[in-house]
Amino acid sequence: MPRAPGSASASPAPLPDRPAWRALAAHRDSGTVAPMRALFEADPERFERFSLRLGDLLLDYSKNRVTAETMALLMDLARESGVEDKRDALFGGQAINTTEGRAVLHVALRNRANRPIHVDGEDVMPQVNAVLDQMRRFSEAVRDGTWTGVTGQPVTDVVNIGIGGSDLGPVMVAEALKPYWHPRIRPHFVSNVDGTHIAETLHGLNPETTLILVASKTFTTQETLTNAKTARAWLTAALGEDAVPKHFAALSTNAAAVADFGIDTANMFAFWDWVGGRYSVWSAIGLPVAITIGFDNFVGLLDGAHAMDEHFRTAPLAENLPVVLGLLGLWYINFHGAGAQALLPYDQYLHRFAAHFQQVDMESNGKRVTLDGAPVAWDTGPVIFGEPGTNGQHSFYQLIHQGTRLVPCDFIAPALSHNPLGDHHPILMSNVFAQAEALMRGKTEAEARAELEVQGLDAEAVAALLPHKVFPGDRPSNTVLVKTIDPRTLGMLVALYEHKVFVQGAVWGVNSFDQWGVELGKQLAKAILPELAGEAPVSGHDASTNGLINAWKTLRSE
Ligand code: F6P
Repeated sequence: MPRAPGSASASPAPLPDRPAWRALAAHRDSGTVAPMRALFEADPERFERFSLRLGDLLLDYSKNRVTAETMALLMDLARESGVEDKRDALFGGQAINTTEGRAVLHVALRNRANRPIHVDGEDVMPQVNAVLDQMRRFSEAVRDGTWTGVTGQPVTDVVNIGIGGSDLGPVMVAEALKPYWHPRIRPHFVSNVDGTHIAETLHGLNPETTLILVASKTFTTQETLTNAKTARAWLTAALGEDAVPKHFAALSTNAAAVADFGIDTANMFAFWDWVGGRYSVWSAIGLPVAITIGFDNFVGLLDGAHAMDEHFRTAPLAENLPVVLGLLGLWYINFHGAGAQALLPYDQYLHRFAAHFQQVDMESNGKRVTLDGAPVAWDTGPVIFGEPGTNGQHSFYQLIHQGTRLVPCDFIAPALSHNPLGDHHPILMSNVFAQAEALMRGKTEAEARAELEVQGLDAEAVAALLPHKVFPGDRPSNTVLVKTIDPRTLGMLVALYEHKVFVQGAVWGVNSFDQWGVELGKQLAKAILPELAGEAPVSGHDASTNGLINAWKTLRSE
């Protein structure tokens, strides 16, 4: 049950009243944080001082507008905000999702140490392990061809139908680990209710060799059920109703709805209400990943996440990667007016990384009231965006370098490429290092002038061009360097960013685990759908909504 306002999980004191918050504001205004260029010139050890390692993963956070004092104050803020207690409540299975009265235990799904974790007095690990076993058996049977379709043929294509967390995590991980795919099996992901998505996905697939996974925590999501019905019709038109049990499986918490839909619950992979949708790739929702990359590699992913969980759970705040990343983000959001955060993976296989974390971050921390229901008087989650590799450089980096807004950037790069062709990887890496350097250093007026003068421009031309050629610099970035994108490393990376979001939500005092904001649009769409039938104009909405619906009716009938 939802908890009453003012429960034990509420934030200790409004943020602006916390001493560390006030100290951070004074520190920012004191002028003691010199521009980064000067900080680097003054301290040759700055990289060592402001970087952290966990296994092969290196976080360089030296290119931030921080000194040792800034970091100490940020850690004070975390302590005053009860981040350690909140973290312990998360790992301890407490119902920290207070508006839904639920524990938040994605960490249990990858608890490879098998340490008991209790929810309402019951250890959840036996059920977690049982579903993992079921996933192992099923994924191995599909991969080795002992699971066949109704006509006896092995599976060549796995179509995952889900949306939000039942899509973005699995598609991101499957794409990131493409080098590990089974040579016979191709995964496909259908999410959008736009008929084009399912039509284009099924086009060219052979129903006899296609396995369809309907992934939905609630099994009530309109988009997913609509796509699943269409897929079912496609399958049964070719192979008959009897084919369904050999070609459909469900990944859900809702056995009754799965059965209602006509999927045998023997083909259901369960998870629990304490798994948030956007944190569910580690659960049965990861089945398309396990089938595609193999169960042992899926376990590698869990192992990596577990290593990051253990680090997050036990490392002192100042050495704790998710804590450091979270607080640095907060420093810019709350003390420098940053409204966005770029996630920039320099690895093509991570091309859906930003899309996944768009949901994780924006659905978690896109909140305007605290746990107590009081409006926040501070900014919360940023707009997350990003593109892989050098693509972004030729698109939106201009604004980051010379625009008026501060956009903190996280660069993510592997030392080794899965495709070491010619000079591609050194060229890619030279770009990631250069971008972080350019953002930090900028180009002064004197440097820009010298460059223009070398080109032989006259004084008037130099004066005209000069303002356009100056880069202010002092623009912050983190760089996460890993050896290579393999299952374990990816697990660490994903858990790192999940916990970063947790840390920020903990300081802001919001519930990072509900998502009521997505409901209103769903309700209104339900009301509008029947109004779209027939020719009669509608009049029950505001003038714009009426006008749009009526214009649509006219356009489609002309
Ligand atoms: O967008 C709202 C949401 O509830 C997400 O949080 C969730 O990941 C998605 O819809 C899909 O939900 P389900 O897995 O229940 O179909």
